[in-house]
Amino acid sequence: MTNLSSIRLPVEKEIAAFEKHFSDSLDTQIPLLDTITNYLLRQKGKQIRPLFVFLTAKTLAEPTESTFHAATFIELLHTATLIHDDVVDESYQRRNHFSINAIWKSKVAVLVGDYFLSKGLLLSVKHKEFELLEAISQAVREMSEGELMQIQTSKKSILKVENYFEIIRKKTASLIASCCACGAISVKADEQTIEKMRQFGFYIGSAFQIKDDLLDYQEKDLIGKPKGNDIKEKKYTLPFILAVQNNQKEKSRILRLFNQSHKPTETIEEISKFVIDNNGIADSIKYMNEFRSKALDILSEFPDNEAKKSLILLVDYIIERKH
Ligand code: IPE
Ligand code: IPE
Ligand code: MG
Ligand code: MG
Repeated sequence: MTNLSSIRLPVEKEIAAFEKHFSDSLDTQIPLLDTITNYLLRQKGKQIRPLFVFLTAKTLAEPTESTFHAATFIELLHTATLIHDDVVDESYQRRNHFSINAIWKSKVAVLVGDYFLSKGLLLSVKHKEFELLEAISQAVREMSEGELMQIQTSKKSILKVENYFEIIRKKTASLIASCCACGAISVKADEQTIEKMRQFGFYIGSAFQIKDDLLDYQEKDLIGKPKGNDIKEKKYTLPFILAVQNNQKEKSRILRLFNQSHKPTETIEEISKFVIDNNGIADSIKYMNEFRSKALDILSEFPDNEAKKSLILLVDYIIERKH
């Protein structure tokens, strides 16, 4: 399997400079914030969003100052959404460590998430990056809409594949689409190119969330966050939706189990086994691969170079990754 460090090679210098931009952007004189940002900076995450920004930019032209601004803003915003997401999901582990809400409680986590978002907004205003600001703010709105739709879906027990795709398009793919659009915007690409890159991001972003939802069923605890959390939190993700579709006879019994508020481990394991035995995993992989092909089709329209080769490898990394 391709690893991220070889994928990064064509933009290695840019990523190193980005990391400095990112930590500098979080400098603060407030002791509690300082402690928390240092804690966060020690657990970096995969940084695939900045990678999308730099690789799409470099597929088209030389990255510019704007490319750095976009990457920094997006990673700040992504970090903010993860901090908030762990509050919403009541999840106490993130990137193999305790989540912010686990250590400092939800109140602090909500405020720190807001702080990260505001840092991103201020950064783009300071550098007068209004086009980037617009593209990314739209993603922020869509992400909130997607998260709220997800809560409604769970309350109303909506088990429709189309509904799931709409949620992941909003909550995850929209930000990755913005990464790719902003990469193109930052090198002054034309409107048509920007839209192609945005569409590429939507496809691979959707595949990315399907993979994340598959990882929640992964056997070993490798993913740096608890597995089975989606079942625990009553999240109707694709593997579950497809397994229920495949076994209508057991549907009402499984839904009754799934909709319980506090599920014992045995129930989580039973649901997990049901999903696996009824092809929930296998069928989700088919959908994920469809998004992969659509993403690669778009890339094939661009001339070959090292950055584009890495983008293709990044698509495969997303499909094959183990965390
Ligand atoms: C997690 O994103 C949130 C989702 C959209 C599924 P990542 O898996 O990119 O998180 P980090 O930054 O690498 O921890
Ligand atoms: C991604 O969904 C949510 C965001 C867009 C932040 P999840 O709730 O599945 O993300 P993880 O699994 O906690 O990283
Ligand atoms: Mg979550
Ligand atoms: Mg998840």
